[in-house]
Amino acid sequence: MKKWNVARIKASKGVCKLPCLTAYDYASARLADAAGIPLLLVGDSVGMTVLGYASTLPVTMEDMLHHTAAVARGTADALVVADMPFLSYQISAAEGLRNAGRFLQEAGADAVKIEGGAFRSDLVKAFTQNGIPVLGHIGLTPQSVNVLGGYKVQGKTREAGEQLVADALALAEAGAFAIVLECVPPDIGAAVTAAVPVPVIGVGAGPVCDGQMLVMPDLLGLTEHPPKFAKPYAALAETMRAAFLAYAADVQGGDFPGPEHCYALSGAAKQ
Ligand code: KIV
Repeated sequence: MKKWNVARIKASKGVCKLPCLTAYDYASARLADAAGIPLLLVGDSVGMTVLGYASTLPVTMEDMLHHTAAVARGTADALVVADMPFLSYQISAAEGLRNAGRFLQEAGADAVKIEGGAFRSDLVKAFTQNGIPVLGHIGLTPQSVNVLGGYKVQGKTREAGEQLVADALALAEAGAFAIVLECVPPDIGAAVTAAVPVPVIGVGAGPVCDGQMLVMPDLLGLTEHPPKFAKPYAALAETMRAAFLAYAADVQGGDFPGPEHCYALSGAAKQ
């Protein structure tokens, strides 16, 4: 399959829907890539899904570089997008640009994602003009959970919906190749999708968006309390639990390892 790049993602608007996923490691990135997933986001949700934090805020640049490099090593065709962690791009444009560049230069990412609307336009422009493609992220922006007062649905009033449309237009105008729109009512998802010339990738933003994003552990049925918008396509938690129990029982009962798992002595050593 042809490699996905930002031009191909942009050109997909109105042509085909984009089934995007988060990924955090080599093995699952390889499988998702082989399944034809066009865009793998190394989300800072790694903080909660893999590292056991209560929010994305403690995630560091080093965490994200480590996981992005693993995903990039497992990916042949998908576009790999690295999520810029909290405080890696908020301090100054220069620091943001240097950090964004590290994802491409050191970790093998193809693009970065940053949270925020129109007020991030200058930063999006600076990244893009310096060769770093940007995926925008508006609606529920988890790095602002303390300002938003929780992980709440956004865009519920007419004014808030209009602001999201204005934010999306400003990001697209500044050069974002696509925009993640998280946790808004479907009508707002549809309005933002219709308004902007770049793909809108919905996460809990209804069916009309140009693409969807799911957090991989939610899709695999590994999340204890998944959000309302997530659909599990497997029940891996049950499968894993059963495998761990069966393994423990086999070891304790002397059934593992069996003869087929053991190495034969060489001829010389046998006598
Ligand atoms: O970190 C993440 O996984 C994300 C997606 C939910 C868009 O930002």
